[in-house]
Amino acid sequence: MAVTIQQLIKWKQQRRSIISLTAWDYSLARVLDDAGVDMILVGDSLAMVALGHNSTLPVTLDQMIHHATAVRRGVKRALTVCDLPFLSYQESISQAIHSAGRIVKETGVTAIKLEGGHPRIISMVRELTLIGIPVMGHVGLTPQSVNILGYKQQGKTPQEADRILNEAVALAEAGAFAIILEHIPDDLAATITATVPIPTIGIGAGIKCDGQVLVTTDLLGLSDRIPPFAKAYVNLQEIITNTVQEFTQDVQQGKFPDKG
Ligand code: KIV
Ligand code: NA
Repeated sequence: MAVTIQQLIKWKQQRRSIISLTAWDYSLARVLDDAGVDMILVGDSLAMVALGHNSTLPVTLDQMIHHATAVRRGVKRALTVCDLPFLSYQESISQAIHSAGRIVKETGVTAIKLEGGHPRIISMVRELTLIGIPVMGHVGLTPQSVNILGYKQQGKTPQEADRILNEAVALAEAGAFAIILEHIPDDLAATITATVPIPTIGIGAGIKCDGQVLVTTDLLGLSDRIPPFAKAYVNLQEIITNTVQEFTQDVQQGKFPDKG
């Protein structure tokens, strides 16, 4: 059965961890979905891992739609979510509605994600939810603000921790169906998870979140750089290199293709 936002909330209540990974094309999405991933995120991290940019800022709405359309074709069960990229929503509520609407209509994904929790973002979440577009929030380290925040852990001072907790509460009250908690102290993530009624999905936020997400190149050992909180479960770069060398040898030695 296809995963719904109601199912995610039930899983939080049942303390059944929610498994989420990113995808940017059909083949990867198909494999992740078959493997049982609950929520597939077309993250704007694809700017870095699929397009080779050095931050998430350059990716455009049209490019996100292009990738999300391909991902959607590969998914049967997982809930699919697509990031609103930098400057596709920050201008105004009507820009957010226009961009989120294009994503949902043109790609077939169920939901969108946007970054931050200040009052302008909260009103966007409220409006999008009102018109029927499910929204996932994202607080803590928000990579679209890398030029202000850097990539360092957020929420270390009591004031900052308080602000992030309040943002999460406001996102939930505005109708967000889940919240990404990125690179914040474990105890802050635990407090947020215990406070809000919607699932928290952590990345660099400790074990107390309702679910975990990773950028899939990090999980698979395909990233050129990996954040300190991620873990490569396999070295796919090495496996691919060895496979290419095997193919090269076979071709050079006349062993492939096989004689018919
Ligand atoms: O773009 C992305 O991959 C993300 C996840 C890290 C949550 O936003
Ligand atoms: Na993102």
